Amino acid sequence: MSTDHLKIKIISHPVPERLLDESKNPKPHIHSIERYKELYQESIANPTEFWGKHANEFLHWDKPFENVLSGGFEHGDVFWFKGGKLNASYNCVDRHAIKDPNKVAIIYEANEPGQHRSITYGQLFRDVCRFANVLKSHGLKKGDTVAIYMPMVPEAVVAFLACTRLGVIHSVVFAGFSSEALRNRIRDADSRFVITADEGRRGDKTIHIKKIVDAALKECPNVKRVFVFRRTGSEVPFDSSRDLWWHEEIEKQRPYCPPEIMDSEDPLFLLYTSGSTGKPKGILHTVAGYLLGTAVTFKYVFDYHEGDVYGCMADIGWITGHSYIVYGPLINGATTVLFESTPIYPTPSRYWETVEKHKITQFYTAPTAIRLLRKYGREYVDGRDLSSLRVIGSVGEPIQPEAWDWYNEVVGRNECAVIDTYWQTETGSIIVTPFPGATVTKPGSATLPSFGIDLAILDPITGKELEETEVEGVLAIRQPWPSMARTIYNDHGLYLKTYFQHYKNYYFTGDSVGRDADGYYWIRGRVDDVINVSGHRLSTAEIEAALIIHPSVAEAAVIGIHDDITGQSVHAFATLKQLQESVDVKELSLQVSKGIGSFASPRKIYIVKDLPKTRSGKIMRRILRKIVSGESDQLGDLSTLSDPSSIPILIETVKNS
Ligand code: PRX
Repeated sequence: MSTDHLKIKIISHPVPERLLDESKNPKPHIHSIERYKELYQESIANPTEFWGKHANEFLHWDKPFENVLSGGFEHGDVFWFKGGKLNASYNCVDRHAIKDPNKVAIIYEANEPGQHRSITYGQLFRDVCRFANVLKSHGLKKGDTVAIYMPMVPEAVVAFLACTRLGVIHSVVFAGFSSEALRNRIRDADSRFVITADEGRRGDKTIHIKKIVDAALKECPNVKRVFVFRRTGSEVPFDSSRDLWWHEEIEKQRPYCPPEIMDSEDPLFLLYTSGSTGKPKGILHTVAGYLLGTAVTFKYVFDYHEGDVYGCMADIGWITGHSYIVYGPLINGATTVLFESTPIYPTPSRYWETVEKHKITQFYTAPTAIRLLRKYGREYVDGRDLSSLRVIGSVGEPIQPEAWDWYNEVVGRNECAVIDTYWQTETGSIIVTPFPGATVTKPGSATLPSFGIDLAILDPITGKELEETEVEGVLAIRQPWPSMARTIYNDHGLYLKTYFQHYKNYYFTGDSVGRDADGYYWIRGRVDDVINVSGHRLSTAEIEAALIIHPSVAEAAVIGIHDDITGQSVHAFATLKQLQESVDVKELSLQVSKGIGSFASPRKIYIVKDLPKTRSGKIMRRILRKIVSGESDQLGDLSTLSDPSSIPILIETVKNS
């Protein structure tokens, strides 16, 4: 495969001198590239020793493990830390509350500026115990599943941890999903309880959370109880035979609840994500491996030191929030910021005011936010005291060199480590990343593998490993790592098929990648039907399925098109049923908002007579992508099309829309 495009001149950035100046900053944990290489080699050559050592350093075990790793990719029976017993909430809360109850665990930066509060480890411990007792008093026990549909409030973190205290599996649904999407996730996971709030506030918008839950539950007869946290205090519908107020329930409970001691491989949580099929997959993570992976990466990748204030701007409804707002920081006893608002509310200075106010040392956001703020201009950043920052991170999609440079210069003032971190819901923790004190960075590259991540680049067609340094292919992983997903809930066959059967003996990421002469990795994007809008992972099939529900639609095809701010945007094509002359495209858009959530709504919908198909009936999305991107003159080989005469009409329709 050609690697010509890798030859563009990229400026490398050495580790900022300020980070290595021990009179100003703590010495980075990984303080040189040699140290990184030494640890990395050890983690790959001898994973059992490496992870065994770290498991004892980072986690409290109620019973020590007997064996570090067994099983493998072939059967998807990877088993880390056999025989070991532990509890996640004990590890995240109790041990820090015992050591230093007054240390701040969570800084809640509420939607309205000026409304912030801090929760200490001592208080978090009591809150988690109380709420765990509430869940227990209503009959919840180890192995049950609970849905959490909450805004960005500390009680959401309390809900996560109360579940894990009892060994209850939480299934968090991002509070931007529609009632239908919530319903499907509640039913798939067979959640019997829902934890939610009256309303949410994001920027100048109110999210009618309880109403959405009520609509979802009309078709979830198994849900017996709904716990409602009062966030705004507005009047909301309340079914007193089913619903309970959070504040009334916790009043009844004492602030101690013994933790349920779990096996290493017991489930910790489920998180639904989109793949190639129309149905979201319930990704399952297990207790010990997940906690270890997030803990180790949190400490080393963000170079966390005692006294730091760490701020990740993601939503707890996505994996980034799970791993790097909640579990990674709390396992390390860190102070983690919970940011409820948006980057531009009430002004595009909001992030930087938050950094200044709380003296944030590590800041983590997504390229889409960086691009948006870059568009507003540097005057919203300049004048803010950002001198507390040492590490600024990015996650969720490729970051273009222009956005990287802006982040580095304007936010980081060329004095911070910029870390472009690559990972997935399924990997549980960061897998390709620079290390702040060690790695020379190149804008646009996530650089080098994290510990224990044995990367391979494969030829997408033959599956052969491409061994030379400078190659392009698909990204795969050779060996198990602790925080990898263990199954897809109730569909282990799909788990094996999706991740381990495309390329035998490898975990397949679904991303294409390039490796340059220095061995640096450049993630190019998904090779499957997953699109990425503002870091939200969406499946084309899922959006098509929502469109097809409309009574007028015969067929739909959805594609992702480049967008300067959101990375990609959704464009949809639909054909109408016979005798149907026209349709209001707003209705189709609404169909997607209803089925998934408004963040998945198409930017544009084209009503067409025919979709381009192969003779075997497969829709050729590649052609639609070219046409919408204005590359109709580069449609390539059309010989497999069943009706090439449909193409000029399609081009015309897109042009006129
Ligand atoms: O395509 C990659 C992209 O996001 C996908 C994973 O999405 P999700 O499971 O929602 O997790 C997102 C947050 C961890 C990947 O397959 N992706 C994530 N981070 C990067 C990225 N693409 C390029 N560079 C990144 N840093």
